[in-house]
Amino acid sequence: MAYENLICEIRNRIFYITINRESKLNALNKTTLNELNVVVTDAIKNENIRSILITGAGSKAFIAGADISEFANFNSEEGKVLAKEGQTQVFDLIQNSPKPIIAAINGYALGGGLELALACHIRVASDHAKLGLPEVSLGLIPGYGGTQRLTQLVGKGKALEMILTGDLINAEEALKIGLINHIVSSEQLILKAEQILIKIMSRSLFAVGSAIRAVNASLKENLNGYDIEIEEFSKCFNTSDFKEGVSAFQEKRPPLFKV
Ligand code: COA
Repeated sequence: MAYENLICEIRNRIFYITINRESKLNALNKTTLNELNVVVTDAIKNENIRSILITGAGSKAFIAGADISEFANFNSEEGKVLAKEGQTQVFDLIQNSPKPIIAAINGYALGGGLELALACHIRVASDHAKLGLPEVSLGLIPGYGGTQRLTQLVGKGKALEMILTGDLINAEEALKIGLINHIVSSEQLILKAEQILIKIMSRSLFAVGSAIRAVNASLKENLNGYDIEIEEFSKCFNTSDFKEGVSAFQEKRPPLFKV
């Protein structure tokens, strides 16, 4: 299916999503967010897909934020709807996906763009990437989960400095504070992201989903992450993947998990 602002394809069971609004530095407008909701929901259900890679079109930007022109005249109520719908329909959907989602950050990841990368499970950036939450310079604060996810990832001190100054940081600084997992050259970016996904896809799909649910539970105040871990751990014992993983270990061979 063709989308207005996304290019999507499945290759080797990886679902590639490219945000394709290069002339606007891939800014997230309503159409793009709606399309992301549709394709990520479908990819989670599609048995031919085991993982998802999100990147931006062109070499300048991953995503330069939410589309400022769309909310320039909003009032408080409209702002609330914008944040709430975006969070539930896209950002929480990505974070809660049982299939691993990686952000390949190929340039500016600002505002909603950094928030989207933060919702992904793993972040790889090219060496010229610039990351930041500049909303205070617009008289706003991050509204797609940035105040929470950045704080969880890098700690309160660094998160507050980035959010209050609105300053952008380069890839090296982002790696140093734990905001991204790897830096590579632009040419190597997709390859590096693919290598990580290929390794994850060689593991038990069921166990990967369980691990994501358990780790995510550590960040939810209304959940006891230790209890969720026990629950997810116990569910793994009922799977053929568990039997195969243990047999393979005992037989000193690589496991062949159900695909
Ligand atoms: N929303 C809407 N349009 C955006 C955008 C955004 N978040 N970010 C960039 N664009 C548009 C620009 O308006 C411009 O469109 P135009 O050519 O029709 O005028 C186009 O993308 C190119 O951006 P431009 O600003 O000319 O590129 P630059 O190289 O001079 O600067 C940035 C790049 C990323 C520093 C700058 O675009 C920027 O600061 N963007 C906004 C970042 C931001 O505040 N994001 C948080 C939003 S909540």
